Amino acid sequence: MDTVIQQPHKLRGTITPPGDKSISHRSAIFNALAQGTSHISNYGTGADVQSTLKVLRALGARIKKTDGLINIVGGELKEPSNLLYTGNSGTTTRLMAGVLSGQKFLSIMSGDKSIRMRPMARIVDPLREMGASIEGRQGGRLCPLVFKQSNLHGIEYDMPIPSAQVKSALLLAALYADGPTIIHQPALSRDHTELMFRAMGINVSEHGLSLNIEPGQLNAIDVNVPADISSAAYWIVAAICHSNAKITIQNVGINPTRTGILDALEMMGASINIENKRLEGGELVGDIIAESSELNSAVIEGDLIPRLIDEIPILSLAACFAKGTTIIRDAEELRIKESDRIFTMQSELSRLGALVQETKDGLIITGGKLLKGSNHQTYSDHRIAMTMGIAGLLASGQTYVQDADAASISYPTFWEDLESLKVA
Ligand code: S3P
Repeated sequence: MDTVIQQPHKLRGTITPPGDKSISHRSAIFNALAQGTSHISNYGTGADVQSTLKVLRALGARIKKTDGLINIVGGELKEPSNLLYTGNSGTTTRLMAGVLSGQKFLSIMSGDKSIRMRPMARIVDPLREMGASIEGRQGGRLCPLVFKQSNLHGIEYDMPIPSAQVKSALLLAALYADGPTIIHQPALSRDHTELMFRAMGINVSEHGLSLNIEPGQLNAIDVNVPADISSAAYWIVAAICHSNAKITIQNVGINPTRTGILDALEMMGASINIENKRLEGGELVGDIIAESSELNSAVIEGDLIPRLIDEIPILSLAACFAKGTTIIRDAEELRIKESDRIFTMQSELSRLGALVQETKDGLIITGGKLLKGSNHQTYSDHRIAMTMGIAGLLASGQTYVQDADAASISYPTFWEDLESLKVA
């Protein structure tokens, strides 16, 4: 599907984005392995989190959907009769690699074209150190990956990159090890696995940036998944960059390891308020109200990067509306996401007329140039599709987005929600 967007006079309304992708994946995987029965409400609707359910079912997990709830009867996984297909989902692939490493059967896992290009050595190397028997294309650097029966032992591992997917794969494998595993992180990445593991009875302790986990059996828990802050970020940027806008985004997960985008935008002068802050199942949740703001440039770098890694495409669009030059650096991880997001954002923002320069590990963006809609590609990357949708609300003229359906990887109702905010 291609779509065309035109700037509205006003943006007003209330949106509840789909359930958080990271928490949804974890709630399904952990409960499928757990002892007991669980109910998950507001499970994400995007294709990625459906890929996780399909993979778990192919492993014999008993998962049913009724009345908008996901019901899981936890237990032992079984040898799959076919290849496990993870679609476009890096989180499914990497987290399941941790699970499959600990199983007493053979399994083969692969995904779509993008997944087959994404680096797997980051998980394969430490999992092999734990004793996992993994083969794969290019010596295990690329999918398909093959997991054979093995016995895992605890290791002490210094993570070279601050990745929650790597950390979670190791924490999952650590459940099957014969002793404790210690993980040292270079910076804090999202901690949903640690929080959910603790709630499910696993002994995971934190000492600064280091984690110590004991092997153990997960106990099933019900999870009420909050709305995804990574999806909320599109509406926040739409509101703060449009000259006549006020948007409320409800029931958003505001776990501090995920709120780098709020910190960055507030640093740039954005008017963002959070109301009704509450704790739900160990995760902080709130309603976010964002409105038209005057933005200034900022330097986005260092430890802030893992806290807003998925929001950098939309943040780079916001930088086009800020006074001065915004520098985003230390973000080379963007080059190996669903697309090379440094290249793709440089290319699409330039097409809008923005002043943007690509660097090895980020972008340099000088705000203030008037943006004009053009013909845009999504590179089959959901976050690029949605960023270009928001660009269409903010740029003059018509903004054409080819392959707009890519948004459905995380946010199938994105284009309907966008229309609902427009006031002619
Ligand atoms: C995720 C971690 C991040 C993020 C991805 C989801 C997770 O990836 O980009 O969308 O749920 O653990 P990395 O761990 O590779 O940075």
